Amino acid sequence: MNPLLLRIDSEPDGLVPSGRELSAFVERMSELCGTDFRRYQGPGLLRRVRRRIASEGVADIHELLARLDGDPGCVERVRADMTLHVTTMFRDPDFFAEVRRVLSALATYPSPRLWVAGCATGPEVYSYLVLLKEAGLHQRCRVYATDLSPRVVNRARSGKIDPGLLPEYEAGYRRSGGKGHLLDHIEQRDGAAWFDRGLLDGVVFGVHNLLTDASFNEFHFVSCRNVTMYFDSIGQRHAHTLIHESLRPLGWLGLGIGESPLHSPFQPDYRQVASGQPLYQRIR
Ligand SMILES: C[S@@+](CC[C@H](N)C(=O)[O-])C[C@H]1O[C@@H](n2cnc3c(N)ncnc32)[C@H](O)[C@@H]1O
Repeated sequence: MNPLLLRIDSEPDGLVPSGRELSAFVERMSELCGTDFRRYQGPGLLRRVRRRIASEGVADIHELLARLDGDPGCVERVRADMTLHVTTMFRDPDFFAEVRRVLSALATYPSPRLWVAGCATGPEVYSYLVLLKEAGLHQRCRVYATDLSPRVVNRARSGKIDPGLLPEYEAGYRRSGGKGHLLDHIEQRDGAAWFDRGLLDGVVFGVHNLLTDASFNEFHFVSCRNVTMYFDSIGQRHAHTLIHESLRPLGWLGLGIGESPLHSPFQPDYRQVASGQPLYQRIR
């Protein structure tokens, strides 16, 4: 049991599910979805379950639990809450500015491999594809993009982008050091926007669970941004073991702001490439 859940037990507010109730809820969700949610952080889960109780218009976690059993739509909504898919192109542009520098070292390999783990609906993958194209690496770098959720993997594969977000994406691209035009990689038609099919066609998309699935290749660059922060300490250790197994010595690891491999058992194997940015190189 996550110790954070135990602390929640002592909260006085009667509407706050107890640690035991939340655990029972997570168990039931895991059975219904076939995905083990027990390794997700207690406080984050609790916040999301409470929001779901409010938006479903049920009184408490018991009513939500009862609804799960009769309503597959509710299961899907709760599952989406548990695995937040918030993402954007060039999220944290200073991070991607550092990635641009690393790509020149990646270019020394004849056939580098990049894995975007927890890719959500695709914008992170599209950001890497733009950088690879600008570095002249797109034809020789094989990109793999995976996520827990088949629905978001399909969306990522489709290349569909919300056209309303393009100005924000363009601004992120510029702040990451982009000198060209992001829109050169995006086609707009029928009120929708689509990422460059020529770049996307080389990507291998797939469903992969960082907590239960095995390593499936050896990579020169692993990007796992804003995913491990949802896991508890056991889940983080598990994911970092898998990432370490999947990363070649001298390969690079990109994480989200606030995430670090330095609390994992592999801490001595990494050095931070640029201070302030969660970009690491495996040094042995
Ligand atoms: C907040 S999004 C981050 C998306 C992207 N990496 C970014 O930084 O913009 C977290 C993603 O992690 C995925 N995820 C959650 N648990 C996972 C797991 N056990 N294995 C693989 N992906 C997972 C979710 O489905 C979601 O798409």
